[in-house]
Amino acid sequence: MSSAQIYRGHVFHIAGAPDVQTADHHLVSLPDGAVVVDDEGVIAWVGSAADLPEQYAALPVTTAGFLLPGFVDAHIHFPQTYSVGAYGGGQLLEWLENCIFPAEARLADPAFAEKIAADFIDRRLSVGTTAAMVFGSAFPVAQDALFSASLAAGLRTVSGRGIQTSGPPAAKPLMTSEAEAIELVAAEIECWHGRDVLVRPERSALVQVAIVPRFSLSTTTETLAALGELYEDVRDRGVYVHSHLSENNRPGTGEIAAVRATYDVEHYLDTYDGLFMPGSTRGGSSLLGRRTIMAHAVHCHDDELARLAAAEASIAHCPTSQLFLGSGTMPWRRTIDAGVTVAMGTDVGAGDEWLISRVLAAGYGVHMTEPGDAAVSIGPAELLFSGTLAGARALDQEQLFGNFDVGKEADLLLIDPERFPALDGAIAGGIRADDEDLAARQTLFALLNGLREPAISGVVVRGRRVR
Ligand code: GUN
Ligand code: ZN
Repeated sequence: MSSAQIYRGHVFHIAGAPDVQTADHHLVSLPDGAVVVDDEGVIAWVGSAADLPEQYAALPVTTAGFLLPGFVDAHIHFPQTYSVGAYGGGQLLEWLENCIFPAEARLADPAFAEKIAADFIDRRLSVGTTAAMVFGSAFPVAQDALFSASLAAGLRTVSGRGIQTSGPPAAKPLMTSEAEAIELVAAEIECWHGRDVLVRPERSALVQVAIVPRFSLSTTTETLAALGELYEDVRDRGVYVHSHLSENNRPGTGEIAAVRATYDVEHYLDTYDGLFMPGSTRGGSSLLGRRTIMAHAVHCHDDELARLAAAEASIAHCPTSQLFLGSGTMPWRRTIDAGVTVAMGTDVGAGDEWLISRVLAAGYGVHMTEPGDAAVSIGPAELLFSGTLAGARALDQEQLFGNFDVGKEADLLLIDPERFPALDGAIAGGIRADDEDLAARQTLFALLNGLREPAISGVVVRGRRVR
């Protein structure tokens, strides 16, 4: 039986392949829009419902208030599913030791791992995160549970076990020897990278693997050298790299100071770029490439941003987390002007929101509050771009999803404002400009700001209703 479908509602998406600076010109708003999905889950047609071609007229129709592309979360910690709002922290390094390392140690227990994986996937379904770069657990049993649950749910997940070969006593349960770290990552790649494609080679992969050193303070020069070698071997197979970069800048005792002191490097990024020996001299291969996503990058030097851009690596921007941990504000204009793709990350559990549109709303306020001339009012189309298409680009899967361009796989959210009265009020009763284009942007802005979980009434990945 054919599973072809029409989805009908107010369509918003960023068409084509713009960058954030030009996203506004690519905003499509179709107040009575239709997205036709064929029985392979591919978008066959998009436009105003009044113009629907005759050939689709008999297909079943699902209607919602709004249709958005699925949200992409470019940085989220699966082992921290229960750690949102963990108290007893301080800034990054204290929070890791006091709250996070002990919480993550619990995933060694297979029953706990199974439960947290199921809950993590449920949360993603609730908030419409159709694709994510998932910072993984140290424990293979938990990674197996995560990938299995993700495949069963039909979500897109890139993940890898969090690698730690060095750290404070609280991190001990998460640490392995140098040799074991590499063996475990290699085994994870063999087991899970593109696993579903082995069964159905004609489809895109729903699960893929990343090499995930937790951050430079959890590794050694030996680890980074060995990971560089491994990456050289597997990068052509599309294996990813994911880590944290330049998050906490507390003078003297913060993360960045500690990285520079530990490795004696000029810039934090050097440690991921093969330049991890004293004086930023080369010690191995770079971990940077178009499938590399670095979370935070709050305090980068211009040279580091230029290097990320040249390598076509991306930044996962996590403003809710940066507020919670007092990490500071990633300079929006300076970062995007450097030409780096900036996608959005919840960074759960330092980030206290699972819903990407909440992270976008926080980002709006944070960047409006940047000092002096750096203050910027990010436009509605730029916000939508950052939470959808930029994420697909950061994952190097823009050809597959991220918007409603014909030929892409259908990842979409059905949103019904009446399921959440505050949103309903803002949509139905908010003031709108007479100018139609501005009014559409005002509606999109109200939608992204006011959206909460209850209003997400359905989630579709690759044309399949996953919720
Ligand atoms: N840096 C190293 N580990 C972590 C983590 O778990 N969360 C955040 N926000 N930063 C980190
Ligand atoms: Zn993080």
